[in-house]
Amino acid sequence: MASPATQPTIRAWTSKTTGPPREALTLQTARPAPPPPTGNNILIKVSYASLNPADLFFIRCLPPWLPFRSSPVYGLDLCGEVIATGPAVTRTTVGEKVSGAMGLAEVTAGMGGLAEVISVDAGLVAKIPDETKLEMKKTVGAMGIAGQTALMMIKSAGVRAGQTVLVNGASGGVGSLAVQICKGIGARVVGVCSGRNGGFVKGLGADEIIDYKAYQPLEDFLATRFLHHELDVILDCAGSQELYSNSPRYLKEQGGKFVTCVGGWSQGVIPFVRNKLRPVILGGTPRPYHLFLLGAQGVFAEEIADYVEKGMIKDGPIDSEFDFEHVVEAYERLATGRARGKIVVKVASD
Ligand SMILES: NC(=O)c1ccc[n+]([C@@H]2O[C@H](COP(=O)([O-])OP(=O)(O)OC[C@H]3O[C@@H](n4cnc5c(N)ncnc54)[C@H](OP(=O)(O)O)[C@@H]3O)[C@@H](O)[C@H]2O)c1
Repeated sequence: MASPATQPTIRAWTSKTTGPPREALTLQTARPAPPPPTGNNILIKVSYASLNPADLFFIRCLPPWLPFRSSPVYGLDLCGEVIATGPAVTRTTVGEKVSGAMGLAEVTAGMGGLAEVISVDAGLVAKIPDETKLEMKKTVGAMGIAGQTALMMIKSAGVRAGQTVLVNGASGGVGSLAVQICKGIGARVVGVCSGRNGGFVKGLGADEIIDYKAYQPLEDFLATRFLHHELDVILDCAGSQELYSNSPRYLKEQGGKFVTCVGGWSQGVIPFVRNKLRPVILGGTPRPYHLFLLGAQGVFAEEIADYVEKGMIKDGPIDSEFDFEHVVEAYERLATGRARGKIVVKVASD
């Protein structure tokens, strides 16, 4: 066994307290490196991590001193190179470049991508696509939480070619992938974003842009624009109760679907009770409501990689890139809620 002096160490972002990132986060510079993997685990030398709004909730609200998550590492998405595999691993091999995201169990236990080396279940990652089709650093969001959420929201809505899909929050991490996947499937995409992001969302493939800042209230504009209830699906990636409550004014009566991934401060409890359980006779909205919660999986990341290979996803848009030492600034950028695509942290060179 290595003596403490020779034991390999890594750098990782952890916390000792809850609070805003600037108060809570600290860069641990001599954290013991994960031991050789057992079972179905692999060691990944992390190249890039990317940030998600959920991180801010964990940093602010989940105590780091709980016994099962002491010294937690943050960051749900990562990509990098496999440097060791457990004896049961069949999904990947040493030297392969992979990308993926943490599942609920890993998040709860405080295992995150903002570390130079991480030990994870091989089932959480997938081989990255050909790097000529998508740069490695762009896979970290596309195959991570944002891309997987977009993919699974689209699947749960059953989006088909020829349908008209409205993506609310089309310029964000989830929305920018949702626009591309819907377009790749052959749907007509209406992107809702601010005017400053109109060109960006159009460039991702949206057929029509609606500037939510220019048309207030947005729901009144949608009721005029889609007077004949032309919308088949609404994918809400920004979190709007009004958009759902007013949906009978523009969403198809037969087969129209509303799917959101935003649960708000109550973590979905209030919208679920209000929108899912309340009968129409008591003021409920006569359109199906689905609140989607991702459980990240490597097979979802694999499907995204496949979409990239087929040219259905052309970009993993990056809002900004930060060095590993500047994770706090990266989280502060995330907290503005204004990111166009993903905020990426460079953990090590590719
Ligand atoms: N349930 C799940 O499993 C799950 C998974 C992933 C994400 N989420 C949630 O989904 C939401 C989106 O995540 P994200 O990663 O895409 O966030 P994000 O990248 O931080 O979103 C930022 C984007 O949202 C746009 N935006 C802000 N307010 C808007 C509004 N009222 N209407 C339209 N666009 C607006 C901003 O554009 P402007 O600056 O132009 O306004 C910006 O481009 C978050 O609430 C997140 O917590 C849930």
